[in-house]
Amino acid sequence: MNNDAMIEYWNGAAGQKWVDQSDRLDAMLGQFADGVLDAAAIQSGERALDIGCGAGVLTLGATAKSGGAVGSLGVDVSTPLLALARKRAAEAGSPATFEQADASAYTAEYKLDLMISRFGVMFFEDPAAAFAKIHGQIRTDGRMAFMCWQALSLNDWAFAPFQAALPLLKEAPPSPDPTAPGPFAFADKERLADILTEAGWRNSSIEPFETEITLPGNDVETSARFMLQLGPLSRLIAEQDLDPQSILSAVTDRLAENAEPDGRVKMKSACWLVQANA
Ligand SMILES: C[S@@+](CC[C@H](N)C(=O)[O-])C[C@H]1O[C@@H](n2cnc3c(N)ncnc32)[C@H](O)[C@@H]1O
Repeated sequence: MNNDAMIEYWNGAAGQKWVDQSDRLDAMLGQFADGVLDAAAIQSGERALDIGCGAGVLTLGATAKSGGAVGSLGVDVSTPLLALARKRAAEAGSPATFEQADASAYTAEYKLDLMISRFGVMFFEDPAAAFAKIHGQIRTDGRMAFMCWQALSLNDWAFAPFQAALPLLKEAPPSPDPTAPGPFAFADKERLADILTEAGWRNSSIEPFETEITLPGNDVETSARFMLQLGPLSRLIAEQDLDPQSILSAVTDRLAENAEPDGRVKMKSACWLVQANA
């Protein structure tokens, strides 16, 4: 199993953009961290293993939920995101700790009580082997709770800007393999259930978590600029040498359809909230 492509991706421009936009991303994605922590029901003194922890919001949240005397552990491959996570923990005086490692090959020094993640588990070349390895880091009667995206087409916040830009592309983007590592790799609920079972997790439940996302920005154009900076659109603009101004204008027009009277843009989102026993 080789996750080199994703490791390179999260250590390059993508990881740096997530750092630069971390406060806005955390505001946009806060409800999903809350959803994981509510489902995880962390008890006093429990330590969670946060997979693909990024800038550490969920790891810090889990540590606070457990009473703050012991630290949860965040694992990630991204140097820039882990630097921010450690800075945040130091500033908060949190005992949360962070390790730089490919979670599919990581062995912790001690067994953790549960695994958690917010959008950090969809990037493995061999997900069943990765979830089996993670399973081995959790105590025998432990558990997991994580959030991942349903299909791109059900997530208007990501799909609508992409569709608005399509007529302006120089060539149609290749149809992606829906199971390839990436944010939407677990769109297929049955496939995800099979992966977890094969990896040794028991009693899995995969429930829809469908809400609205408020995009960063107090006006439509700022929201559109944000959507051009992260994700597939930024890559297409660079790869196809597109005029960013015309894409911005098309995306702004589309997002305006979802603008509230105060100018903020709210779009539909669809996730899976996944739980299982070790
Ligand atoms: C979409 S970001 C989510 C970050 C964070 N959980 C959050 O919600 O803000 C995905 C994260 O998964 C990490 N990641 C990707 N592949 C990984 C792997 N094989 N092992 C550990 N982390 C990985 C990336 O570096 C990135 O920080």
